[in-house]
Amino acid sequence: MMEKTGLVLGIETSCDETAAAVVGRGVNVFSSVVSSQIDLHARYGGVVPEVASRAHVEMLTPVLAEALVESGVEPDELDAVAATVGPGLIGSLLVGVSAAKSLALVWDKPFVAVNHLEAHLYSTFLEDPDIELPLVVLLVSGGHTMLVLMEAHGRYRLLGETVDDAAGEAFDKVARYLGLGYPGGPAIDSLSIKGDPGAIDFPRAMMSDGYDFSFSGLKTSVVNHVRKNPDVATADVAASFQEAVVDVLITKARRAVADTGAKGLCLAGGVAANSALRQRALDVCMDDGVRAFVPSRSLCTDNAAMVAAAGWWRLHTDGPSPLDHGADSSLRLPTVA
Ligand code: KG4
Ligand code: ZN
Repeated sequence: MMEKTGLVLGIETSCDETAAAVVGRGVNVFSSVVSSQIDLHARYGGVVPEVASRAHVEMLTPVLAEALVESGVEPDELDAVAATVGPGLIGSLLVGVSAAKSLALVWDKPFVAVNHLEAHLYSTFLEDPDIELPLVVLLVSGGHTMLVLMEAHGRYRLLGETVDDAAGEAFDKVARYLGLGYPGGPAIDSLSIKGDPGAIDFPRAMMSDGYDFSFSGLKTSVVNHVRKNPDVATADVAASFQEAVVDVLITKARRAVADTGAKGLCLAGGVAANSALRQRALDVCMDDGVRAFVPSRSLCTDNAAMVAAAGWWRLHTDGPSPLDHGADSSLRLPTVA
């Protein structure tokens, strides 16, 4: 039986998942409900912002109710209400932020503004509360690709990031080109199992060049290869593309762990649900004698448990956020120089 202390209600509506969760002390998950809008957006081949905001308005109340009922926690037992305030789609963010602030006001609880990127970093602590820092985090999602050195709670050093497309964006664009539908990551992941990752030698951009990434040239190479070889097996293209992405991500992450003397490597963000990336991270960490933290897939993709966890830490470091706190679609991860 988990102790009912440090209870935070988290709300996540930054993109196309409507989610709510109750988490104790940033680690004990009492409930985590995620309602995905994937089916709504699939016919358009990507997330349509206006459709997303409207769906959040419709789904947030039932999702919140389910998260509260499932947790067995009464509103008066909560320590705070936390919501993602950015980055993300502004209309979507505003739905969750407005709801969280209203509930905080009505229940007379502190409101905590949460950075979505920081929330992804905290997903690991939900499964491994005793992680030793410093840790290199490879944060790979639909909108971001970053290598972050987490030195302490709330203290991050940005080692590198993408100079163009995010890794998830590359998966989504290549999948769309190959006619595999949306979202592209899971589609390429499952098709790759039937393909040969060594079939096509796609370029690995900026491989020996610092910690930044570039994926737009890779996407163009895939398009050019398929145009020149119309009979190529789609599974081989998918597997070879995935291999190129994983190779670059893991090579740089591994080097970052060695260069910084970090205790381990942690994966976060939607692309961290990728089977090949997860396996490679486990393999290289085993070879290098460092720890690998690979959260379960449901914690890698957007969820509110990670928002509640980050909210708990932020409440203790910064205190509550003001109720006139807005949403910021281009919010950055707070980093030290
Ligand atoms: O973190 P997330 O759920 O939302 C953002 O904050 O962006 O990440 C979504 C991204 C999408 O680009 C999706 O295609 C990708 O994560 N993704 C995957 C897999 N599952 C989701 N990419 C590769 N392999 C997967 N299995
Ligand atoms: Zn995300």
